[in-house]
Amino acid sequence: MSQKELLTKADRFFVGGGNGEFRLPPEANFVASHGKGSKIFDVDGREYIDFLLGSGPMILGHCHPAVIEAVTRQIQKGTTFMALNEPSIQLGERIVEAAPCGEKIRLVITGSEAAMFAIRAARAFTGRSKYLRFEGGWHGVSDTTLHGARTLNPGEYPDTTADGGGIPESWSQDVLAVPFNDVERARQVIESRHNEIAAIVVEPLQRCILPQPGFFEALRSLADQHGIVLIFDEIVTGFRLAWGGAQERWGTIPDLATYGKTTSGGYPMAAICGRADVMDTMNGWRHADDPKRIIASGTFNAYPVGAVAGLATMDELAKPGIYDRLYEMGNRITREISAMGEELSIPLLVGGEGPVLQVLFTEDTEIVDYMSMFRADKEKAYRFGVELIKRGCFVTPYEKIYLSTVHSDEDIDRLLESAREALKSMAD
Ligand SMILES: Cc1ncc(COP(=O)(O)O)c(C=O)c1O
Repeated sequence: MSQKELLTKADRFFVGGGNGEFRLPPEANFVASHGKGSKIFDVDGREYIDFLLGSGPMILGHCHPAVIEAVTRQIQKGTTFMALNEPSIQLGERIVEAAPCGEKIRLVITGSEAAMFAIRAARAFTGRSKYLRFEGGWHGVSDTTLHGARTLNPGEYPDTTADGGGIPESWSQDVLAVPFNDVERARQVIESRHNEIAAIVVEPLQRCILPQPGFFEALRSLADQHGIVLIFDEIVTGFRLAWGGAQERWGTIPDLATYGKTTSGGYPMAAICGRADVMDTMNGWRHADDPKRIIASGTFNAYPVGAVAGLATMDELAKPGIYDRLYEMGNRITREISAMGEELSIPLLVGGEGPVLQVLFTEDTEIVDYMSMFRADKEKAYRFGVELIKRGCFVTPYEKIYLSTVHSDEDIDRLLESAREALKSMAD
């Protein structure tokens, strides 16, 4: 079937023409057919260099031979059991050993579940109901995390509102938000309400915003002082910024960390990992009326196919030089796109680092929190992204650029050439 016909069908049957993917205008929209290495192809045969990577999981690129081999072997042995199985046990061991906070682990399927269960565990462990988050961080789509994630009127700290309909506004009272990197505001909120706060939840690289020196150390010390569970959402950063994720990169060890995307090689799977006493809230042997017992089960939780794909991915990521290469590419893109902005007199900043970057069109000199991202021109970022897609570089139109271990120098050359043309077209 042609792409045009498929797009018409997608419009006819899917609400809004899709399933929650990033929305693309008709001139850039396409239907993916297959992927190979750093490229994906649409059903009409057009090639794109993939800088979205399935929104992060495909860190080895598409159809990596080691992942295909592991998965092919596993699917012949069975795909799900709802019983202990060797691949999931080995994946659990591998993540616990790599995670600086790792003592115990629970495997789940989506990053949203991982964040939701981590917060639930902290609430049960401390007997407190609220958690403190950082405005604009993303922790998935559960009812508890969709407060203060996509704030339309930032600045009313620490109050939050529900991000979208269908989520009871009353739940917002249990979610407090302050700006990322704002130690003083976090301190004030924690010191005035510490008896009510179960967890501090932070995305260590918040979208593309880097932590300022001392930020995580301050959160760690406030959490210790007040018996609060510090949770790092490492679903993007885990095994991506470094083998030990953001914890290794910035040297602060949380009580719990959530993982996903890189940990299951392009198959659905995620995890909550951390301190044994907090994780023990998920212990199914606890008595049903124990208030410290939480329910964190799921049909596919120990999914062996995701586990073998994750193990194969980690074997590749453990090879020497992998992270140096990811940073080398990221640094080049940052340097060259920043220079293009100056040359073409287009105010922009490249946020993020290494394999996670984002181009922001802003007059600001640094991006420190959601407010500074909010001020950036999203329409321009969207146009820039669409221009890149039209030139065969698949990106999220107003979000991240992800890099994989299989992007070549030629791929990066093409991205940079396309970025120059896109910026020029926007300057005209
Ligand atoms: C930091 C972070 N946390 C949680 C999630 C939610 O993960 P999922 O989409 O697998 O539910 C995401 C997804 O993009 C994420 O980036």
